[in-house]
Amino acid sequence: MNPPPCNCVLVVDDTPENRRLFSLILRETGCETVEAASGEEALALCASREYSMILMDVHLPGLDGFETARRIRAFDCCQTTPIVFVSAVYTAERDVFQGYGEGAVDYLLSPVVPEILRAKARVFVEIHHRRRAVEDHARELERINRELAAANEELESFSYAAAHDLRAPLRAIGGFSEILLEDYLPALDAQGRDYLRRIGDATGRMNGLIDDLLALGKVTRSEVHLQSVDLSALAGEVAREIQDDSPRAVDWAIAPGLAARGDPGLLRILLANLLGNAWKYTARRDHARIAFGREAQDGEEAFFVRDNGVGFDPALAAGKLFKPFQRLHSAEEAPGCGIGLATVRRIVTKHGGRIWAESAKGDGATFWFTLDHE
Ligand SMILES: Nc1ncnc2c1ncn2[C@@H]1O[C@H](COP(=O)(O)OP(=O)(O)OP(=O)(O)O)[C@@H](O)[C@H]1O
Ligand SMILES: [Mg+2]
Repeated sequence: MNPPPCNCVLVVDDTPENRRLFSLILRETGCETVEAASGEEALALCASREYSMILMDVHLPGLDGFETARRIRAFDCCQTTPIVFVSAVYTAERDVFQGYGEGAVDYLLSPVVPEILRAKARVFVEIHHRRRAVEDHARELERINRELAAANEELESFSYAAAHDLRAPLRAIGGFSEILLEDYLPALDAQGRDYLRRIGDATGRMNGLIDDLLALGKVTRSEVHLQSVDLSALAGEVAREIQDDSPRAVDWAIAPGLAARGDPGLLRILLANLLGNAWKYTARRDHARIAFGREAQDGEEAFFVRDNGVGFDPALAAGKLFKPFQRLHSAEEAPGCGIGLATVRRIVTKHGGRIWAESAKGDGATFWFTLDHE
């Protein structure tokens, strides 16, 4: 982080009266001043600190004003400091002024008019301060980004290792309870057998959770390979797969011709989860309807998956819906681990988009998402 912006102007002029006069005028704007009698002295003063502006006589003995300015620019702390040249002749210097380009360089004709010097100083000092503030802000954002990326990486490798290492003891629990069931069944009473079966069920559920955790980690780590994807066709394929898996009468309404730029593999996982949820949470409807389409939402086009299923209570969903392992329905109402929507959100975020949902309990649900690369 830089120190707070300084309010100091460096006045470079070989005539002591000019230096004094310029300093006097500049101090009226609230600036401090430091004076240098030559280009060499100015360079020495610029090596160690920054100034909010440099007022430089063009005609200096030894290093002239332009050469001094060029060398000052080489110092890190003075790369963007505004430099205002003072010259008695404009026409002869015009080309050089122009050669310096726009931005932090300007000139004043001498004799200098105090009001003009003050006005320029105010504007340049302000511009310099703003530029510094923007730079500080950008640096801070970069730092936060780096920290976040490192923390994310750490978390991902932690959850991957945890999920991976959990498998071994789980396999032992599952394996030994199976042996007990197979070889020692007569030695157990009904309650003992029930306990063993419950251990087996719980082991199966935990295996499922680990699979889901690993799948979520895989989505997070995977790179996005962008290409044009026919989302309508993809939604149709996913719907057919769901339908074939456990046939049921559902009225599918998939809007034709919807395309997007995205990663086909990840978008398939996204649609499988959203359409799979719509399927699962309409299971108890006599006339289940599931739609996929695109509509304008608050001035932007968003894709949606809509169903007329059980819906959810928005108050209950707030802050939870897209978090891993958060479920709004019990396992009796519908099976699941609560990992699908967390996966969907990661995919949408990886595409630079947003996801949100609307629902009323008992009255269906709509999931909206955008993909930035459309
Ligand atoms: N279409 C929907 N209608 C009603 N509730 C939904 C719908 N989609 C999701 N939900 C609610 O949001 C919760 C989280 O959804 P998510 O897809 O993450 O988990 P899941 O479907 O329960 O399990 P999984 O996807 O891991 O098999 C669900 O448990 C359910 O309560
Ligand atoms: Mg799901």
